[in-house]
Amino acid sequence: MSKFKYDLAVIGLGYVGLPLAIEAANSKLKVVGYDINESLVTNLNNSTSHVEDISNNQVSNSLEKDLIFTSDSEILGESEYIVISVPTPLTDYQPDLSFVEAATKSIAENLQKGHVVILESTTYPGTTLEIVKPILEKSSKLTAGEDFLLGYSPERIDPGNEKWTFKNTPKIVSGINKKSLEKISKFYKLIIDEVVEVSGTREAEMVKLIENTYRQVNIAMVNELAILSNMLDIDIWEVVEAAKTKPFGFQSFRPGPGVGGHCIPIDPKYLSFKTRQIGQPVRFVELAQEINNSMPNYVVARISELMNKKEILLKNSKILILGVAYKKDIGDTRESPALDIIESLLEKSVDISYYDPHVDELTVNKRSIAREENLENLSNFDLILIHTPHSKFQEINFDSVTSLIFDSTGSFTISNANRL
Ligand SMILES: NC(=O)c1ccc[n+]([C@@H]2O[C@H](COP(=O)([O-])OP(=O)(O)OC[C@H]3O[C@@H](n4cnc5c(N)ncnc54)[C@H](O)[C@@H]3O)[C@@H](O)[C@H]2O)c1
Repeated sequence: MSKFKYDLAVIGLGYVGLPLAIEAANSKLKVVGYDINESLVTNLNNSTSHVEDISNNQVSNSLEKDLIFTSDSEILGESEYIVISVPTPLTDYQPDLSFVEAATKSIAENLQKGHVVILESTTYPGTTLEIVKPILEKSSKLTAGEDFLLGYSPERIDPGNEKWTFKNTPKIVSGINKKSLEKISKFYKLIIDEVVEVSGTREAEMVKLIENTYRQVNIAMVNELAILSNMLDIDIWEVVEAAKTKPFGFQSFRPGPGVGGHCIPIDPKYLSFKTRQIGQPVRFVELAQEINNSMPNYVVARISELMNKKEILLKNSKILILGVAYKKDIGDTRESPALDIIESLLEKSVDISYYDPHVDELTVNKRSIAREENLENLSNFDLILIHTPHSKFQEINFDSVTSLIFDSTGSFTISNANRL
């Protein structure tokens, strides 16, 4: 019998933490969800979810089980396992671990013998040992790996993915020693179908970075080939579809207006930050970032070129951007290339509006962007830019639209469309 009142405390109830808390409650664990954002906690206690993949019903069902939401950090002392899933953004283009440090301090203040602490936030290799462990040991005077256990387990959640969910996506786990690994592995086996053990926390931290760097680099490669194919008058979309028929040795990536979301544009920078500490750049990462970051400008240049051919002046033109989320069928606009595209078009005095069934409001550079409500009037615009290939857009009869159409996603069969 554990001496603790709760089995699990999750720190940070965002895209990563909330699904974990809910899934653990579904697996009959006693769970505390802790977040410093009090209004978010109040909403959750009123069964209102702010995470798209988690419905209000799921929250209310969990509340009926053994799950509570709170902003009181003292409760952390009452839970055997404590998972940190707070943001790890970039500030001034550098990894910002201030949220991880603050969360770790709130654990340290409540740390007791028997606790198991797991970092899930994405970060560079060494964070668990070099940042989290010293903070926990210093104020508590307890020893990691003996008095309390410590490890790292990266999150692989893919918002909007109905096939690969929290439960059936294999989970990488690690510990700072054997005892920590065994205990952490045992915990995740209670809530996830397949658990994959790696030998140390640095390896586990690196797993997450290799996964996202792989995507970043391959997307950049196909984006560069899209630009070159356009110059060579080759249809890159047809090329990608044909190459995809190879049953081995090729995984297809599609070109697009850039990369967005909380992972791909950010995580590889954590990797290059770490390797720069030993004087080595990750050359692939830096080139990939350069190419992907240039895509919004490329989209604007192509739009300008298309309008020029039709003798439409970009300045004061009316452009509608369809989809502003960073990926299909979700409403997350964090790091979305749409933001850079809109910013650039605003600078060129374009009258820009947007429509996204998943995004009710949009602000770019403190300017509120008009949301188009009536999709019957698409021909009233000089140009329609398809930025995100939301399923809902398949219902639009683009062939009846007389405006210029630029499909930066290559996902729609439109007779008069121009593609990336
Ligand atoms: N969103 C994804 O798809 C995804 C996927 C895999 C990994 N990750 C990683 O997981 C981590 C969390 O990302 P997210 O998208 O869930 O973030 P998020 O912004 O959605 O949520 C983070 C939550 O942490 C809370 N918080 C911040 N500091 C806190 C503190 N000191 N104590 C308690 N709560 C605190 C915030 O109020 C917020 O509610 C990041 O490192 C991210 O890179 C995210």
